[in-house]
Amino acid sequence: MITKKIQKIIKKKNKKKIVCLTAYSKNIAEILDRHCDIVLVGDSLGSALYDYNSTKKVSLNTIIEHSKSVKKGIKNSLMVVDMPFKTYRNKKEALKNARHIILQTKCDAIKLEGGKKIIKIVKHLIKNKIQVMGHVGLLPQSQKGKFTFKGKSKIERNKIFNDAKILALSGVFGIVMECVEKSLAKKITSSIKIPTIGIGSSVHCDGQILVTDDLLGLNDKNYRFVKKYANLKANIDKAANYFKKDVIKKLFPRNKNSY
Ligand code: KIV
Repeated sequence: MITKKIQKIIKKKNKKKIVCLTAYSKNIAEILDRHCDIVLVGDSLGSALYDYNSTKKVSLNTIIEHSKSVKKGIKNSLMVVDMPFKTYRNKKEALKNARHIILQTKCDAIKLEGGKKIIKIVKHLIKNKIQVMGHVGLLPQSQKGKFTFKGKSKIERNKIFNDAKILALSGVFGIVMECVEKSLAKKITSSIKIPTIGIGSSVHCDGQILVTDDLLGLNDKNYRFVKKYANLKANIDKAANYFKKDVIKKLFPRNKNSY
């Protein structure tokens, strides 16, 4: 049974763009909640926060702890949590871990990477009343070697298209498309009834998602698909430097900051 919150998002397809961002903590989630339809606790937190060279290193426990924090900042948006690598290798494992995530974090849905290869698992989760979001194109949990956009060869395009189709038919409520070539993203978006959420997959998707740390300028990464809307790294640097100067010159704390 699809919840009202999810129905609202699905209804936006072909009408209004769907706004999604990632969050890993309450303070950020609280701000994003005012602007987003979906807040994702992505396993991108592995690289964004822990400097891991792969999302494969993110554990179930880590994503759960961050999700508990995020939940405290969410009032309106749909909260989706990524299932980490090796937590959904078979139906039994996937259901046990999805239930554990939902019970611990009170999130609305979970996201899995893959299409045809994991379709039996996706169907099993949906049959057991778990709300599932799909993820096709670039799949960081199974990517070997250099990250590059997807949909160059005919074989690759057919695979991504079929993955998206089969996921849509299985009952997922939306599909993240990561780094999918724009004409393919357009074709998929117009061929399925559920929303596509793009990251590096062009304006043709029904919605967009970015890693919040990237758009806030909290790191030095310069991906083609990211637009930096703020430069928080520079702002934090400035603030820390002002603090340092005040402390050294004994300008902080003042009487009003003391007991
Ligand atoms: O892990 C993540 O943040 C994601 C987004 C990039 C879609 O999967």
